Amino acid sequence: MPHRASRPLDFETRQIHAGAVVDSETRSRVTPIYQTAAYVFDSFDDGEERFAGRSAFRAYSRNENPTNAVAGRRIADLEGGVDGIVVASGQAAIAVAIAGLAESGDHVLVTRSLYEGTREMFRGVLRRQGIEFEYVPDEATDDEWAARFRARTKAVYTETLPNPLGQVVDIERLARIAHTAGVPLIVDNTVPTPYLWRPIENGADIVLHSTSKWLSGHASVIGGAVIDGGNFDWSTQPERFPQLTESPRPGVPSFVERFGPNAYLAYLRSVIVLEYGPTVPPTSTFLLLHGIETLSVRMDRHVSNAQTIAAWLEARPEVAEVFYPGLASSPFRERAEKYMPDGAGSIVSIELAGGREAARRFIDALELISPMTHIGDVRTLAIHLGSTIHAKLNDDEKAEAGIGPGLIRLSIGLESARDILADLERGLAAAAAA
Ligand SMILES: Cc1ncc(COP(=O)(O)O)c(C=O)c1O
Repeated sequence: MPHRASRPLDFETRQIHAGAVVDSETRSRVTPIYQTAAYVFDSFDDGEERFAGRSAFRAYSRNENPTNAVAGRRIADLEGGVDGIVVASGQAAIAVAIAGLAESGDHVLVTRSLYEGTREMFRGVLRRQGIEFEYVPDEATDDEWAARFRARTKAVYTETLPNPLGQVVDIERLARIAHTAGVPLIVDNTVPTPYLWRPIENGADIVLHSTSKWLSGHASVIGGAVIDGGNFDWSTQPERFPQLTESPRPGVPSFVERFGPNAYLAYLRSVIVLEYGPTVPPTSTFLLLHGIETLSVRMDRHVSNAQTIAAWLEARPEVAEVFYPGLASSPFRERAEKYMPDGAGSIVSIELAGGREAARRFIDALELISPMTHIGDVRTLAIHLGSTIHAKLNDDEKAEAGIGPGLIRLSIGLESARDILADLERGLAAAAAA
C-alpha cells in the first residue's frame, strides 16, 4: 500500500495496491513471480522457528508463497476480510473451506441454486467422505430453516448471485439464520466480485471465489480464494469447532488463542492447505494480480453491456425467458438493487422458445461469441447447459434446478455491445428456423 495514505483508500486504488510489498533488495514495482518451491533457512534454529510458524519467513511454497500471499491479502482487503489465501481453483477453494469446518458425520445446510460443479462436489466426493449436505428450498421460512440445524451442523453455504440463473440471495437474512444457530455463513461471491457486492458487510463469515473468472478476467488461469471475514466468534461454540478452540497438542495454544479473528484462515493455511496441497502456481497468480488491477473498470463495462443485451433479448420472440436480475421485470430486481447498486453482474441466461433444437442452431450459428464453458472472460461466451454442465442430471433433476431444454448461459464480455448483438441476432435467426 502507498505508505503516505491518510484516509481509507477507495476500492479502485486498493485493487491496484492492497497487499503489495516492495521488496527491499530489488524494489520491483510489480509483484514478482516467486517461482520457488522453498526458502533457505538462515540457521538450524531458523529452520525450527519456520516449521513452528513462529518466523515471519516461509518454509515451503505449498501453503506460503510471496506472490500468492499478495493476492490473498489483496482479495481479502477488497472483500473487507481479515485474511485470505489463494488456491488452485474455485473448486479447491470450496473443498478447502468445507474441510476447515466439517468432517465425517457433520452436516451443512445449503441453498438450492448453486453452480452445478459445487453441487456435484457436495453429492460426490464430499458426501463420500461422510459430510451430509442438506438443500433448503428458497421459500423456506425462518422457522423451517431453524428446524434443520443439528448439533453437528457446521455451516450454511450459499452463492450471492447463483450461477446460472441469478436468483439474488438475501445474505443478511441467511447470516442472521446461521448466526442464531451458532454456525458461520459461507458465501461464494464469484459472480458479482467484491466490486459489485461485499457479502462480509451483510454478515457473511467466509467468502469464496473462483479467481478463474472476473477477478483474473481473461480466461488465462485457473485459481480460487478463501477469505475470512474475521467476525465469527468460534469460542462461543467450542464443542462445535474443536479444531479451532482446542489445543492441537499439549502445550500448544488453540488457533483461536493464537490467531484471534484470523483463527479460521490460519487453520486453513497451516493445516488444511498444507495437508491437501492445492497450491496455485505463482505464475497464475501473477496474471490474477494483473486482472484484479483493472477489476472495477472491466466490471462497469461488463455490467453496462449485460444490461443492454438483457433488455434487447427480452424483446425477442425467439426468447421465452431472460434471467438477469438487472431487468425491471426480474423478480430479483429489488434485492439486486439493495445488494448490488452498481449493477447485477454479467451473466445473462436465456431460455430459447424452440428448446434444445433451437439451442443447437443458436450455438452453431455464432461467429463472434465463443461457445465454451467458463464465465467472466473479456470475451462473450455462450453454453447450452442441459447438454454440457448439467448433462449428468435426469430430466426431473434438470427441471428442479431450473435448467430448461433451451437454456443458454451467456457470459457477457467487453466487446462492443453492437457487435455482440449482431452475433446474437445471427444466433436467434438460426434458432427461429428450428
Ligand atoms: C460460482 C462458481 N464457483 C466456483 C466455480 C469453480 O471454479 P473453478 O472452475 O475455478 O474451479 C465456478 C466455476 O464455474 C463457479 O461458477
